[in-house]
Amino acid sequence: MTTFKLDIRDVTKRYGEAVALLPTNLQVAQGEFLTLLGPSGSGKTTLLMMIAGLTETSGGQILLDGRDITQTPAYRRDIGVVFQNYSLFPHLSVFENVAFPLRMRKCAEGQVKAAVQRSLDMVRLGHLAQRLPRELSGGQQQRVAFARAIVFDPQLVLMDEPLGALDKKLRDELKLEIRKLHGELKKTIVYVTHDQDEAMLLSDRVCLMNEARVEQIAPPVALYERPRTRFAAGFVGESNLIQGTVRGGAIAVGQGMLSTAHADLLPVEGRPVTVLVRPERLRIVAVPDAAALRGRVVDVIDLGAVRRLTIAGEHGDTLTMTMLGGDQPVSPGATIALAVAANDVVPLAEDAS
Ligand SMILES: Nc1ncnc2c1ncn2[C@@H]1O[C@H](COP(=O)(O)OP(=O)(O)O)[C@@H](O)[C@H]1O
Ligand SMILES: [Mg+2]
Repeated sequence: MTTFKLDIRDVTKRYGEAVALLPTNLQVAQGEFLTLLGPSGSGKTTLLMMIAGLTETSGGQILLDGRDITQTPAYRRDIGVVFQNYSLFPHLSVFENVAFPLRMRKCAEGQVKAAVQRSLDMVRLGHLAQRLPRELSGGQQQRVAFARAIVFDPQLVLMDEPLGALDKKLRDELKLEIRKLHGELKKTIVYVTHDQDEAMLLSDRVCLMNEARVEQIAPPVALYERPRTRFAAGFVGESNLIQGTVRGGAIAVGQGMLSTAHADLLPVEGRPVTVLVRPERLRIVAVPDAAALRGRVVDVIDLGAVRRLTIAGEHGDTLTMTMLGGDQPVSPGATIALAVAANDVVPLAEDAS
């Protein structure tokens, strides 16, 4: 039997009548980078804080390495945590901030020195050990917070929107740094963000959350290519949602017909269905077969590297299509035929309501 690094079983949180997290199950493998992605208020922080032991559960169990830690106090869980607002001690040097978890654990001085140095070198701040937090930039402060979270070699590292307070350029830099750190440390990380790009770049798997529950768990590319619901399709990437009717295992859309490689996801014959097609998966075809979608180009935006077309589909929906900037030019007003590979036509589940 596999033991997961982290095993969340029916964990739930209520505040009085309000449900912050519906009963949730989630398993994280050793060394995995799992991201909780979702809009504000979807329950990400609540789940993370229950894993950390900083918020009590209202039900369910949390296992770390197969051990039930649901009632274990935070400081004995062997979990490192990084928050959005650095939360460094302002009166302690960088060195002492990072040393703090080791002092709590009453480690010997020699051990403290070595571990703090190693940790600070890891985040490239070894030379600033004697500074105070206020003498550092926001990005540097957050790197100190990372160093503090890993200095005691925890079983698990949790990060709650750690880049949220930084400007875009720093965010982009630190994103890559976190990715590199994960590669080097091989730590199990549970990371919270509402930023899909961050989630896509960092994660082995993304746990998409919506309204206090898990919407879908999948590797980034799978989440992009095969979202299960409208919410998932809309939250990650851009989407065309096309309304059609199931006909013989394909989707009739106006006069056109879309084949899908995911016919197992279709409702029964004759039922309405919504399918997702990503903008870059639409292709203009010069010699359309009878089944292609047709439309009129209403807008062309050339962004250099890519070109975005807005197309009024003959079947009624407006479509967005992206193509490479170097592709054959297209003019507004042109009537075009569009094709999509069957693998890129993804039926969506009816929204749970
Ligand atoms: N201490 C609290 N008391 C009451 N409601 C709370 C508390 N903390 C969080 N909530 C509610 O729980 C829900 C989930 O919040 P949270 O986990 O912070 O979401 P996220 O991190 O995804 O933005 C929200 O509706 C929020 O208002
Ligand atoms: Mg939050």
